[in-house]
Amino acid sequence: MPNEGSYQEAKRRSDATWAELATHPEKHVMLSGDRPTGALHLGHYFGTEAPRVKLQNLGVKCYILIADYQVITDRDTTEHIRENAYSMLLDYLAMGVDPARTTIFTHSAVPALNQLMLPFLSLVTEAELLRNPTVKTELEASGHALTGLLLTYPVHQACDILFCKGTLVPVGMDQLPHVEQTRQIAHRFNKRYGKVFPEPVALLSDVPLLPGLDGRKMSKSYGNAIALSMTAEETAKLIKKSRTDSERTITFDPENRPGVSALLSTAAICEERDPREIAQEIGDAGSAALKAYVTNAVNTYLAPLRARREELAQDMGYVIDVLHEGNAHANAVANETLAQVREAMGMVY
Ligand code: TRP
Repeated sequence: MPNEGSYQEAKRRSDATWAELATHPEKHVMLSGDRPTGALHLGHYFGTEAPRVKLQNLGVKCYILIADYQVITDRDTTEHIRENAYSMLLDYLAMGVDPARTTIFTHSAVPALNQLMLPFLSLVTEAELLRNPTVKTELEASGHALTGLLLTYPVHQACDILFCKGTLVPVGMDQLPHVEQTRQIAHRFNKRYGKVFPEPVALLSDVPLLPGLDGRKMSKSYGNAIALSMTAEETAKLIKKSRTDSERTITFDPENRPGVSALLSTAAICEERDPREIAQEIGDAGSAALKAYVTNAVNTYLAPLRARREELAQDMGYVIDVLHEGNAHANAVANETLAQVREAMGMVY
């Protein structure tokens, strides 16, 4: 986690930017991305996906990156990468990402983006790379030796954000150090070679992090995440087998009753209600009633998205075209930026 001071500074910047955005959306470019490691779930959706669609609909030019090179920062295989990427494409389109306003693309299809890595790496020190708290956490979780790519991926993320001169990056707390690193790289590049890049702002969400169904961090590997792509039946089954506790009366108490409280938070976020109010309503009816309530809340909320997803899946030709067009557009933009970088660095022959 970033230290308190820098968090407060980032939050202040984020709030000021949200306020300014509504009047001048055309001044901004949003970039955000996801690693294609599995299905997108409710945590992604409420945490970063919904804010992206909101920015798009406000009139901000948007880029969404399927960060395929980031998959191999901490694993030794690219198995399933294509099906994961296609599945994410379906999720994006189903949740309202509009290809006319938002460019969806992959790392591996945009060489000029990746080439920014060379000048950018020269702008950071080994000590800075080794200090990144998110990289440290990911290294511990991976159980692997530190690869060069894991160590330097925050710099690669700066390439993602800056190739399109992104000014807005809607992120969760874990990504804050990376956006800070990007600001620093932009600043140093501009100082050394002349102004090419904006210093992007991390847009923090006010929505508290949605825990997984058992109260732990939501993660596919814990089996506590509701994927957008699940059927209503699969959703019901997952909620049914989630762990609660033996106390009959339902109360919202995340500290002492993580399972029950996570279920309440899940229903609350879908219905835009207060979890305490739902708890009170269920009261002595117990966890079976709570689970039925949550299942209905989630399935009702996701029904239109899932119906659109189903329909889109019938037309994969169209869906893959969206990615090809996104890649073509990202290439044009990246080539232009790289040309400016060569120019600024005097590498024009
Ligand atoms: N690291 C991000 C994640 O795991 C994904 C990502 C890649 C990203 N490039 C980005 C996010 C650029 C924001 C900006 O969620």
